[in-house]
Amino acid sequence: MNKEIIVVETEKMVREKLFNEQTGHDWFHIERVTKNAIEIGNKEGANLFVIRLAALLHDLADDKVVESEEKGLENIKSWLNLQKVSKTDADHIIRIIQTISYKGGNFKELETLEAKVVQDADRLDAIGAIGIARCFLYSGSTGGAIYDPDKEIRDKMSVEEYRNGSSAIHHFYEKLLKLKDLMNTKIGYEIAEQRHRYMESFLEQFHKEIGKQNTIY
Ligand code: ADP
Ligand code: NI
Repeated sequence: MNKEIIVVETEKMVREKLFNEQTGHDWFHIERVTKNAIEIGNKEGANLFVIRLAALLHDLADDKVVESEEKGLENIKSWLNLQKVSKTDADHIIRIIQTISYKGGNFKELETLEAKVVQDADRLDAIGAIGIARCFLYSGSTGGAIYDPDKEIRDKMSVEEYRNGSSAIHHFYEKLLKLKDLMNTKIGYEIAEQRHRYMESFLEQFHKEIGKQNTIY
């Protein structure tokens, strides 16, 4: 099948599935990640067909969005099969989706340039102004506080602990401020640096307003 048609059909399917998603993984997240991924992938000379499909499908295996990761991956495989994506591309896309998720810092080695590009694109959407908005949205959707000064900032976490955040502000120190130095590509890093500074100034202002010194960085 024509690759452009496959991308358009996939877009339609994902848009319908994630339109009402409430934890910050909605269609607009997917749209931004796909746009970032194309921009970075273009500069890096990566396989844009694989990148676009992986970016579009990447959250359909997330355990926050579907009942289980295995079930999600099975559905993605069936979809790629139905669209007659070649086995090589389909295996590559599945591998990207399996390896890029953050989940509390339990890192997996990325095998291809395309995986690195999609991971960078996903991470960019977790930082900067968008990242701040998504963090509070996620926290609110799970009943978390804006800030709980009595809780410790955690370093290493299990997936379970990661999901039950200490508070939205804690999440900046437990994840969001770490992402800049974990970027894989040069252009990804450049965009991340600017977004990182924006989060730092937000946190500085936040601590100023609550009358506490921000001593973390
Ligand atoms: P990934 O898709 O890389 O696994 P997540 O699904 O864990 O990332 O996170 C998706 C979004 O929700 C991100 O913007 C992330 O920062 C935010 N988020 C995840 N866990 C928390 C938390 N405990 N508190 C606040 N925001 C969170
Ligand atoms: Ni995502």
